[in-house]
Amino acid sequence: MTEADLNLVVVERLDAAEDVVSLTLADASGDPLPSWEPGAHIDITVGDGTTRQYSLCGSPDDRSVYRIGVLNEPAGRGGSVWVHDALKVGAALSGRGPRNHFPLHQSPRYLFVAGGIGITPILAMIGAVQKAGAEWTLVYGGRRSASMAFLDEISDIGSRATIWPQDTHGLIDLPGLLSEPRDDTLVYCCGPEPLLVAVEKLCAPWPSGALHLERFSPKDVGAPVRSDSFEVVLTDSGVTLTVPPDRTILEVVEAAGVNVLSSCGEGTCGTCETGVVDGEPDHRDSVLTPEEQADNSCMMICVSRSVSPRLVLEL
Ligand code: FES
Repeated sequence: MTEADLNLVVVERLDAAEDVVSLTLADASGDPLPSWEPGAHIDITVGDGTTRQYSLCGSPDDRSVYRIGVLNEPAGRGGSVWVHDALKVGAALSGRGPRNHFPLHQSPRYLFVAGGIGITPILAMIGAVQKAGAEWTLVYGGRRSASMAFLDEISDIGSRATIWPQDTHGLIDLPGLLSEPRDDTLVYCCGPEPLLVAVEKLCAPWPSGALHLERFSPKDVGAPVRSDSFEVVLTDSGVTLTVPPDRTILEVVEAAGVNVLSSCGEGTCGTCETGVVDGEPDHRDSVLTPEEQADNSCMMICVSRSVSPRLVLEL
């Protein structure tokens, strides 16, 4: 998967559900798009010049288009409203990616749990596991059927998918799904924060590495370990900088003229991933798995800080 600058054009726009549009995007020059794997997302530059991340939910085998599903959230930061208002067929847009921090690992069995627009990365995963011949089940919850995107496609897949609209079925029976840990099953979950928190809690007794989550908004990580300043040594740039308590590593590094790619600024997209040579990071991101965080070989410098007085970074 090659991350690149993207110049795209909207070639199809469909209503995928109440308040959800499905956009099919092609390269503006007609070239094949960078390859991707299920779980990947792209950054889209929205009206105010900031970026938003959208999971790819089409087929990775088709390099001529990407497909994304976007929920209109008028109470959000404005990105989805802009997408709904501005991105008609023929509209040009720019972005970056694809990038994958929610990769599909090999397993004989999968349990997919999707809530609302969290179905988008899961759709691409289901296509891949079907093709690989693995066992899988999906439980897809939403407020009500009319608000749940891609229901037709999911119904076509057959009986391995359970559609769980809250207005007629209540909340997904997560204890029924997850209370028996299995060592032959990987759990993939994407959706609103309360769903993710509940799934995380129930999967605590599952084997390490069994649960994979994708967050669209940052999780609550509490106060940083250190309340004072710390030092960052940048090996490639040969500089040492001080990060005060009220600034992020990313802000300090950028102010020193060192170029770092970043996007969300809240620890959810993975763009600012930086290699750690020495020192112990205070991981405050919502991207890395607990195992990846414990490994301490990389960190998201837009939100993560330091436990040790000094961090040595590959920058
Ligand atoms: S910029 Fe998105 S994780 Fe840091």
